Amino acid sequence: MESIRFDGRAAIVTGAGAGLGKSYAKFLAARGARVLVNDLGSGYADQERSAGPAAQVAREIVDSGGRALANSDSVADWEGARRMVQECRQAFGRVDILINNAGILRDRSLLKMPPEDFQMVLSVHLLGAFYMTRAAFPIMKEQAYGRIVLTTSTSGLFGVFGQTNYSAAKLGLVGFMNALKQEGARYDILVNAVAPLAATRLSQPTGFFPPEMEALLRPELVTPLVAWFCSEQCSVSGDIVQAGGGYFAKVQILEGRGVRWDPRQELTPEMIAEGYGRISDMRGARPFASANEQMQAALAPLKEK
Ligand SMILES: NC(=O)c1ccc[n+]([C@@H]2O[C@H](COP(=O)([O-])OP(=O)(O)OC[C@H]3O[C@@H](n4cnc5c(N)ncnc54)[C@H](O)[C@@H]3O)[C@@H](O)[C@H]2O)c1
Repeated sequence: MESIRFDGRAAIVTGAGAGLGKSYAKFLAARGARVLVNDLGSGYADQERSAGPAAQVAREIVDSGGRALANSDSVADWEGARRMVQECRQAFGRVDILINNAGILRDRSLLKMPPEDFQMVLSVHLLGAFYMTRAAFPIMKEQAYGRIVLTTSTSGLFGVFGQTNYSAAKLGLVGFMNALKQEGARYDILVNAVAPLAATRLSQPTGFFPPEMEALLRPELVTPLVAWFCSEQCSVSGDIVQAGGGYFAKVQILEGRGVRWDPRQELTPEMIAEGYGRISDMRGARPFASANEQMQAALAPLKEK
């Protein structure tokens, strides 16, 4: 029945003391993975420390017969990230799976956003994912195997009022993934992004979900996708998938067919104004696997001139 299992694999799940991360960690452990459960133990908007949440989840895993280790370092700290990866390797001998999930919010509209709130959110989400991935990648390369999951958000993909910091960090992770998938490809290191929707402590203050919907938005409904991304059976890299409430859908960046004017002629803003309908027409839009592929498509017609 359980064709997707993680026996022999070692996983790190950041921010796994609560919410989505807790669900991922418990699921991977139940399917055979040894799991380093990381959580700073902070509030949803601060970086206060408590070792309690990570220890509690690790204990629950061990009590149900799994193997787990607790860690309360911050992902936003390079030394902490390195320590976490070392602890995983020392305890379990490998680092096969990295789920970059830890996160906080500091919502304010731009004019009320203190620079430190912008920096803090970028530090945890974007730098945190970089530090963790940077520390784990050499081990994955050595193993010629790795599965990395990044956590993006519809906030970054489509925009939310009052979240310029969070949206920037979450879409920054997509750029990080687009480059990283190319660096990982030859070592069987796959990297994908989940855009979750789940009723958690983090989603409560945003008031996004009506209380009656919370039962339908359990973190456990996001976990199957993340588990598949983390599995040997995963066959994609560089994908973004929205997941929540039983809904799963790929989100993709596409380029329209555009307009081509002869580059030897003078181009004016009036031509842009007149042609903008065609420039922004997304009929026939296509994705590109890399910037190189996009550039070749963009330059090919010029070579014919
Ligand atoms: N819940 C949603 O609907 C939703 C939507 C989009 C994206 N997300 C993302 O999903 C991820 C998980 O969020 P959640 O909803 O489960 O929230 P959550 O608050 O329940 O869990 C986040 C965990 O991260 C931990 N954390 C915070 N800073 C940390 C740090 N520096 N180092 C280590 N751990 C740290 C917190 O202590 C907390 O336990 C986040 O990246 C969030 O941005 C959630």
